[in-house]
Amino acid sequence: MTTERTDASGRVRVQNLVTSGTFSLDGGTWEVDNNVWIVGDDTECLIIDPAHDAQAVVDAVDGRRVGAILLTHGHDDHIRAVRGVAGATGAPVYLHPDDTMLWQQVYPETTADLELADGDLFRIGLVELTALHTPGHSPGSTCFYAPDLGEAGVLFSGDTLFQGGPGATGRSYSDFDVIIASIRERILTLPEGTEVLTGHGEATTVGAEKPHLQEWIDRGY
Ligand SMILES: [Fe+2]
Repeated sequence: MTTERTDASGRVRVQNLVTSGTFSLDGGTWEVDNNVWIVGDDTECLIIDPAHDAQAVVDAVDGRRVGAILLTHGHDDHIRAVRGVAGATGAPVYLHPDDTMLWQQVYPETTADLELADGDLFRIGLVELTALHTPGHSPGSTCFYAPDLGEAGVLFSGDTLFQGGPGATGRSYSDFDVIIASIRERILTLPEGTEVLTGHGEATTVGAEKPHLQEWIDRGY
Protein backbone atom coordinates (compact mmCIF):
# COMPACT_ATOMS: atom_id res chain seq x y z
CA MET A 1 0.00 0.00 0.00
CA THR A 2 1.33 3.45 -0.88
CA THR A 3 -0.18 6.71 0.27
CA GLU A 4 1.10 10.11 -0.67
CA ARG A 5 0.86 13.68 0.57
CA THR A 6 2.11 16.89 -1.00
CA ASP A 7 3.46 19.93 0.83
CA ALA A 8 2.00 23.43 0.48
CA SER A 9 4.27 24.28 -2.45
CA GLY A 10 2.92 21.25 -4.31
CA ARG A 11 6.44 20.32 -5.21
CA VAL A 12 7.47 17.97 -2.44
CA ARG A 13 5.85 14.61 -2.05
CA VAL A 14 5.98 12.30 0.95
CA GLN A 15 5.15 8.73 0.06
CA ASN A 16 4.40 6.10 2.68
CA LEU A 17 4.84 2.48 1.77
CA VAL A 18 3.83 -0.15 4.32
CA THR A 19 5.81 -3.36 4.03
CA SER A 20 5.61 -6.58 6.03
CA GLY A 21 8.19 -9.00 7.35
CA THR A 22 9.85 -9.98 10.60
CA PHE A 23 11.92 -8.41 13.37
CA SER A 24 14.45 -10.61 15.18
CA LEU A 25 16.53 -9.81 18.25
CA ASP A 26 17.71 -11.67 21.33
CA GLY A 27 16.62 -15.03 19.86
CA GLY A 28 12.97 -14.05 19.22
CA THR A 29 11.23 -13.29 15.94
CA TRP A 30 8.05 -11.25 15.49
CA GLU A 31 5.86 -10.35 12.50
CA VAL A 32 5.91 -6.59 11.82
CA ASP A 33 4.58 -4.01 9.39
CA ASN A 34 6.98 -1.13 8.72
CA ASN A 35 6.53 2.36 7.32
CA VAL A 36 8.90 3.23 4.49
CA TRP A 37 9.07 6.98 3.78
CA ILE A 38 10.11 8.48 0.45
CA VAL A 39 10.51 12.28 0.38
CA GLY A 40 11.11 14.10 -2.86
CA ASP A 41 9.91 15.70 -6.05
CA ASP A 42 9.51 14.44 -9.60
CA THR A 43 13.22 14.05 -10.21
CA GLU A 44 14.90 13.11 -6.93
CA CYS A 45 14.17 11.73 -3.49
CA LEU A 46 15.46 10.44 -0.17
CA ILE A 47 14.39 7.11 1.29
CA ILE A 48 13.96 6.58 5.02
CA ASP A 49 14.03 2.96 6.28
CA PRO A 50 13.41 0.87 3.12
CA ALA A 51 12.13 -2.15 5.06
CA HIS A 52 11.40 -5.73 3.99
CA ASP A 53 10.60 -5.37 0.30
CA ALA A 54 13.34 -3.87 -1.87
CA GLN A 55 11.40 -4.26 -5.11
CA ALA A 56 8.35 -2.42 -3.73
CA VAL A 57 10.57 0.47 -2.65
CA VAL A 58 12.35 0.60 -6.01
CA ASP A 59 8.96 0.59 -7.76
CA ALA A 60 7.81 3.55 -5.62
CA VAL A 61 11.00 5.47 -6.45
CA ASP A 62 10.01 4.99 -10.09
CA GLY A 63 13.34 5.85 -11.69
CA ARG A 64 14.06 9.05 -9.76
CA ARG A 65 17.56 9.80 -8.51
CA VAL A 66 17.93 8.73 -4.87
CA GLY A 67 20.23 11.10 -3.00
CA ALA A 68 20.53 9.02 0.15
CA ILE A 69 19.04 6.14 2.07
CA LEU A 70 18.64 7.21 5.69
CA LEU A 71 18.27 4.60 8.43
CA THR A 72 16.62 5.62 11.68
CA HIS A 73 18.35 2.71 13.44
CA GLY A 74 19.90 -0.69 12.89
CA HIS A 75 17.14 -3.15 13.83
CA ASP A 76 16.91 -5.88 11.21
CA ASP A 77 13.32 -5.12 10.16
CA HIS A 78 14.49 -1.65 9.09
CA ILE A 79 17.72 -2.69 7.35
CA ARG A 80 17.46 -6.22 5.93
CA ALA A 81 16.26 -4.96 2.50
CA VAL A 82 18.55 -1.91 2.37
CA ARG A 83 21.38 -3.49 0.39
CA GLY A 84 18.90 -4.45 -2.34
CA VAL A 85 17.56 -0.89 -2.53
CA ALA A 86 21.06 0.61 -2.47
CA GLY A 87 22.19 -1.74 -5.24
CA ALA A 88 19.23 -0.87 -7.44
CA THR A 89 19.39 2.91 -6.90
CA GLY A 90 23.11 3.53 -6.41
CA ALA A 91 22.34 5.59 -3.29
CA PRO A 92 24.60 5.62 -0.22
CA VAL A 93 23.28 4.19 3.05
CA TYR A 94 23.57 6.34 6.19
CA LEU A 95 23.44 4.90 9.72
CA HIS A 96 24.56 6.31 13.06
CA PRO A 97 27.76 4.45 14.02
CA ASP A 98 26.43 3.63 17.50
CA ASP A 99 24.17 1.03 15.80
CA THR A 100 27.03 -0.74 14.01
CA MET A 101 26.64 -3.83 16.25
CA LEU A 102 23.02 -4.14 15.04
CA TRP A 103 24.04 -3.60 11.40
CA GLN A 104 26.63 -6.38 11.75
CA GLN A 105 23.99 -8.87 12.94
CA VAL A 106 22.59 -8.58 9.38
CA TYR A 107 25.75 -7.69 7.42
CA PRO A 108 28.69 -9.21 9.34
CA GLU A 109 32.06 -7.50 9.26
CA THR A 110 30.79 -4.53 7.23
CA THR A 111 29.48 -1.06 8.01
CA ALA A 112 26.89 1.17 6.36
CA ASP A 113 28.34 3.40 3.62
CA LEU A 114 28.36 6.63 5.61
CA GLU A 115 28.05 7.63 9.25
CA LEU A 116 25.13 9.75 10.40
CA ALA A 117 25.86 12.44 12.97
CA ASP A 118 23.58 14.73 14.95
CA GLY A 119 22.94 17.88 12.94
CA ASP A 120 23.64 16.37 9.52
CA LEU A 121 21.60 18.10 6.81
CA PHE A 122 20.04 16.36 3.83
CA ARG A 123 18.54 18.50 1.09
CA ILE A 124 16.06 17.34 -1.51
CA GLY A 125 14.49 19.98 -3.74
CA LEU A 126 13.15 22.66 -1.40
CA VAL A 127 13.16 20.49 1.69
CA GLU A 128 15.89 20.13 4.27
CA LEU A 129 16.02 17.24 6.73
CA THR A 130 18.11 17.55 9.88
CA ALA A 131 19.35 14.45 11.67
CA LEU A 132 18.51 14.43 15.40
CA HIS A 133 20.39 11.80 17.37
CA THR A 134 17.76 10.39 19.75
CA PRO A 135 19.27 7.33 21.49
CA GLY A 136 17.26 4.98 23.67
CA HIS A 137 15.40 2.53 21.43
CA SER A 138 18.92 1.79 20.22
CA PRO A 139 22.15 3.71 20.87
CA GLY A 140 22.28 5.11 17.34
CA SER A 141 18.58 5.88 16.87
CA THR A 142 18.15 9.02 14.79
CA CYS A 143 15.09 11.05 13.78
CA PHE A 144 14.90 13.29 10.72
CA TYR A 145 13.26 16.71 11.08
CA ALA A 146 11.92 18.73 8.16
CA PRO A 147 10.64 22.08 9.56
CA ASP A 148 9.42 23.25 6.13
CA LEU A 149 7.43 20.15 5.23
CA GLY A 150 3.67 19.90 5.70
CA GLU A 151 1.58 22.38 7.69
CA ALA A 152 3.96 22.85 10.61
CA GLY A 153 6.93 20.60 10.01
CA VAL A 154 7.42 16.86 9.91
CA LEU A 155 9.50 14.54 12.07
CA PHE A 156 10.38 11.08 10.81
CA SER A 157 10.66 9.42 14.19
CA GLY A 158 11.67 5.85 13.39
CA ASP A 159 11.03 3.72 16.48
CA THR A 160 11.78 6.51 18.97
CA LEU A 161 8.25 7.95 19.29
CA PHE A 162 4.98 6.34 18.25
CA GLN A 163 1.34 7.30 18.54
CA GLY A 164 0.84 6.50 22.24
CA GLY A 165 4.37 6.54 23.56
CA PRO A 166 8.05 5.72 23.28
CA GLY A 167 9.53 2.92 21.21
CA ALA A 168 10.24 -0.37 22.92
CA THR A 169 13.19 -0.51 25.29
CA GLY A 170 12.88 -4.06 26.66
CA ARG A 171 15.53 -5.74 24.49
CA SER A 172 19.30 -5.57 24.09
CA TYR A 173 20.96 -2.19 23.54
CA SER A 174 17.80 -0.26 24.55
CA ASP A 175 17.45 2.08 27.54
CA PHE A 176 14.18 3.54 28.84
CA ASP A 177 15.69 6.49 30.73
CA VAL A 178 17.73 7.40 27.66
CA ILE A 179 14.75 7.29 25.27
CA ILE A 180 12.72 9.45 27.66
CA ALA A 181 15.52 12.01 27.75
CA SER A 182 15.71 11.99 23.95
CA ILE A 183 11.96 12.46 23.58
CA ARG A 184 11.82 15.17 26.24
CA GLU A 185 14.79 17.17 25.03
CA ARG A 186 14.82 16.65 21.28
CA ILE A 187 11.24 15.89 20.18
CA LEU A 188 8.78 17.46 22.62
CA THR A 189 10.68 20.74 22.21
CA LEU A 190 9.63 20.91 18.53
CA PRO A 191 6.53 22.95 17.59
CA GLU A 192 3.35 21.22 18.78
CA GLY A 193 1.93 21.05 15.25
CA THR A 194 4.88 18.98 14.05
CA GLU A 195 3.56 15.85 12.39
CA VAL A 196 5.33 12.71 13.62
CA LEU A 197 5.65 10.06 10.92
CA THR A 198 6.61 6.83 12.64
CA GLY A 199 8.49 3.65 11.80
CA HIS A 200 5.41 1.52 12.50
CA GLY A 201 1.71 2.31 12.73
CA GLU A 202 -0.17 5.58 12.60
CA ALA A 203 1.16 9.11 12.51
CA THR A 204 0.76 11.52 15.42
CA THR A 205 1.83 15.05 16.37
CA VAL A 206 4.16 16.48 18.99
CA GLY A 207 1.17 18.24 20.58
CA ALA A 208 -0.87 15.03 20.84
CA GLU A 209 1.92 13.13 22.60
CA LYS A 210 3.42 15.84 24.78
CA PRO A 211 0.79 15.75 27.59
CA HIS A 212 1.48 12.04 28.17
CA LEU A 213 5.19 12.14 29.00
CA GLN A 214 4.68 11.74 32.74
CA GLU A 215 2.30 8.78 32.20
CA TRP A 216 4.98 6.99 30.22
CA ILE A 217 7.57 7.67 32.89
CA ASP A 218 5.20 6.42 35.61
CA ARG A 219 4.33 3.20 33.75
CA GLY A 220 7.95 2.59 32.74
CA TYR A 221 7.52 1.93 29.02
FE1 LIG B 1 13.29 -0.92 16.15
